[in-house]
Amino acid sequence: MKINTLLVGLLSSVTLVAGVAQAAELSIVSGDTGNGLAFLQSQLDKFEADTGNTVTIVPMPSSTSDQFGQYKLWLAAGNADIDVYQTDVIWAPQLADQFLDLTDAAKDVVGDHFPSIIESQTVDGKLVAIPAFTDAPALFYRKDLLEKYSKEVPKTWAELKATATEIMEGERATNPDMYGFVFQGNAYEGLTCDALEWVKSYGGGQIVEADGTISINNPQAVAAITEAASWIGTIAPEGNLAYQEEESRGVWQLGNSVFMRNWPYAYALGNGDDSAIKGKFDVAPLPAGEGEGAASAATLGGWNYAVSKYSQAPEEAIKLALYLSSGEVQKERAINQSNLPTIESLYDDADIAAAQPIIPSWKEIFQNAVPRPSAPTKTSYNEVSAKFWSAVHDTLSGQGTAEENLEVLEADLTDLKGDGW
Ligand code: GLC
Repeated sequence: MKINTLLVGLLSSVTLVAGVAQAAELSIVSGDTGNGLAFLQSQLDKFEADTGNTVTIVPMPSSTSDQFGQYKLWLAAGNADIDVYQTDVIWAPQLADQFLDLTDAAKDVVGDHFPSIIESQTVDGKLVAIPAFTDAPALFYRKDLLEKYSKEVPKTWAELKATATEIMEGERATNPDMYGFVFQGNAYEGLTCDALEWVKSYGGGQIVEADGTISINNPQAVAAITEAASWIGTIAPEGNLAYQEEESRGVWQLGNSVFMRNWPYAYALGNGDDSAIKGKFDVAPLPAGEGEGAASAATLGGWNYAVSKYSQAPEEAIKLALYLSSGEVQKERAINQSNLPTIESLYDDADIAAAQPIIPSWKEIFQNAVPRPSAPTKTSYNEVSAKFWSAVHDTLSGQGTAEENLEVLEADLTDLKGDGW
């Protein structure tokens, strides 16, 4: 059986001409933020030179929600044009049937990665995707401005609001475009990440708990989302209701916000030569809420590579996925993109620590990060998340109170759950 599978794989991946294997033409689909696609291309150039294969990037929008919608359609239609998918950490349970099992191919390297990350990509014993980088957000703050106004890095959301207000008002004398805080407020998966942090930081649970219980309709969650709604049109621009990662970074990197919530990729870019805030900022854990159980919380993110079961060149496609998740590429990724590695030993790498000091200090943050409820809600996760981000977006936009919207959300999620997820 094994030998048959291998033979079929080999025959479809390469054409044998007079005993010489011809190179495969692969395609990889990826949406990314910042200069992520340029980085991917630089790594593909090396893969092409090493293997003789060619790889085409199919670029996608950076919104993970938009990507997911498109990939689901392609995979449902058995699309053979895409070999390798760059996949979000939350997708594994939803797309598991459409990707090849990488368990065998990755058996020699899987032990290098953090076990929890491998587990997040394993569904019923099948390794659905191999990790490329992990993600956990930071509070980005302007060191220079905190110093100028003699302020500490805020430890609670209330402190953040007070400090952001004071500095924003002071700075507006010379910069009318100044704001206090920018984050991901658009109605998409990014808002689920931000809002899960607010709720968890107020001790309000994680929307749906690990055992499948719907927990979102509780007073701490109401307090968290009510507090966030008070930022819109005050410390955050009205336009923040449409911001994804890149729009928040745009405002921040022009020097027009005191604070920003974003993922580590914004660290390297903020220190780039064309950044107005190069050398003027640092990162801290996100603030805590108030009340029982309040503590800083970070949502767990991250990206992986999966191989389509419709690939015509599965052996070469698997090689590509393994290459892009290798220690060599992860090290470059860490140094150039400030993405957090999934390979444990890289957290002790001196080159990485020197280039991107955020990385070693973020090891503990991502290890304690809160997962979104993609495992307990299985194939319903996307719908659960969409209902959650809509309820939050409505509240931020002034359409209903958090109390009203979370009550409706609870009822909707209960319907969706039925007899079980
Ligand atoms: C980041 C995270 C990803 C998350 C997305 C939301 O890319 O790594 O897991 O879904 O942001 O916008």
